[in-house]
Amino acid sequence: MIKDLRAYLDYLDSKSRLARINEEVKTELEITAMTDTANRARKYDSKTLMFSKVDGYDMPVATNLFGSINTLSELLGSFSISDTVLGILHPKQSSGTSAMLKGAKALIDSKPKVEGFSTRGYEKLGGLDELPILKSWPKDAGRFITLPMVVTRSYEDDSLNAGVYRMQVFDNKTTGMHWQAQKGGALHAYEAAKRGKALDVSVAIGSDPFNVLAAATPLPQGINEFAFAGMTRGSRTLLVKNGDYPPVPANSEIIINGYVEPDERRVEGPFGDHTGYYSIPEPANVFHIKEIYAKKNAVYSASVVGFPWNEDAVIGLFMMQYLKPMVSMVNDSIIDIYLPPEGLFTDVCFIKVKKRFPGEAKKAMFSVLGLGQLSFVKMVVAFDDDIDITDLGRVLWAMATRVEPERDVQVIKGAPTDTLDHTANLAAYGSKMLIDATKKTRGEGYNRDWPDTLSMPKDVMDSAVSRWEKLK
Ligand SMILES: Cc1cc2nc3c(=O)[nH]c(=O)nc-3n(C[C@H](O)[C@H](O)[C@H](O)COP(=O)(O)O)c2cc1C
Repeated sequence: MIKDLRAYLDYLDSKSRLARINEEVKTELEITAMTDTANRARKYDSKTLMFSKVDGYDMPVATNLFGSINTLSELLGSFSISDTVLGILHPKQSSGTSAMLKGAKALIDSKPKVEGFSTRGYEKLGGLDELPILKSWPKDAGRFITLPMVVTRSYEDDSLNAGVYRMQVFDNKTTGMHWQAQKGGALHAYEAAKRGKALDVSVAIGSDPFNVLAAATPLPQGINEFAFAGMTRGSRTLLVKNGDYPPVPANSEIIINGYVEPDERRVEGPFGDHTGYYSIPEPANVFHIKEIYAKKNAVYSASVVGFPWNEDAVIGLFMMQYLKPMVSMVNDSIIDIYLPPEGLFTDVCFIKVKKRFPGEAKKAMFSVLGLGQLSFVKMVVAFDDDIDITDLGRVLWAMATRVEPERDVQVIKGAPTDTLDHTANLAAYGSKMLIDATKKTRGEGYNRDWPDTLSMPKDVMDSAVSRWEKLK
């Protein structure tokens, strides 16, 4: 049982996946450069870095908490979005009453417990200057909190949302709130602004891995991330509530309470992002801090992003594994989906489709563009079921041999895009490209005989393989 961030660091240490850096480092650039170097060397099985001597601060800094896919598999591998969990997320679409009942039971079992916040064990801080917040890249507009769990409450139905949204430090008591317009926190801010009200916001930094991962997971709006965390952990999440502020995990290292005013915006960025570019400065909501608490001997945690590949790629790859079944459930034309990390998760999406009737590949691609955060995707490519869509070599082969551009490429104008896509003329609004890389049929207007792909009879192939083994 990993009860908090420190227990998680001990767990990583016991697996030799923690690198302790005892030499002095600066929060400005140096921690990022070291983390980025570690990731470049180990790619998706990288170590977590623990910086114990941070220039100007008493608090140590941990980065790359989720840099190892092996760690994520150990933590969450036994959890699958089975019909049971789908029963909770989409009761109407789950297959049968028993799954729904199981889903309902899982939901009750994982409902977070909420207690009052006690300052025992915490120190009240004077402001953000006491936290070792990183300035990651040379042209960053300043220091950014990069791994916060930002918790808000809906004015409409009282539901909670937790998301990881970076926060630029404007001054000791004010930050930006970089929630993209379609994200849960932004939708809550929109609901509050419609009523002319401020939105209470709680921010937690540092918790057990299940809570942080749940906050970063693109769950359907209205699903409580901390209930989801409870399901992945196998025990309910304990939350604490400071006054009227939204509750946060009781095991948080740092807790910040404050509010966002309706319609107040300040320019946020540039920030060296996971695209490998600096973000274009854009207006963002402003977070006003009322109270900050840090555990005695707190550890500050940060995520370092940059040119792919970093820990966000590992998190993304892992999440795909357990979000896949939801996609197939919503659209049964889709057998598999793969967002290659180099395509930044939001820009390039490959799907493998069943092709049972003319246009089914397009139907599948259209549905991707309407599905939660997959709607950010810029280019969707559909493949037949004989293509391994995680193999970039096969993917290019299929595109080369199954795409006729005039017929198979479609551009859709005027759609929401990822805020981080600087190629669009306008922020968060641009176009999409659909590429149908499936074999075409007569029903789709292809009037020639689509040629067969090459293959040998199995017995001939088996014999060739065994002969070659002897020659090797
Ligand atoms: C390290 C890290 C940083 C992130 N930064 C942002 C961010 O600045 N803005 C944003 O909208 N999403 C960001 N995300 C993605 C969101 O956390 C993710 O989309 C999540 O599903 C949001 O929660 P929500 O669906 O409840 O809005 C980040 C994710 C990670 C792992």
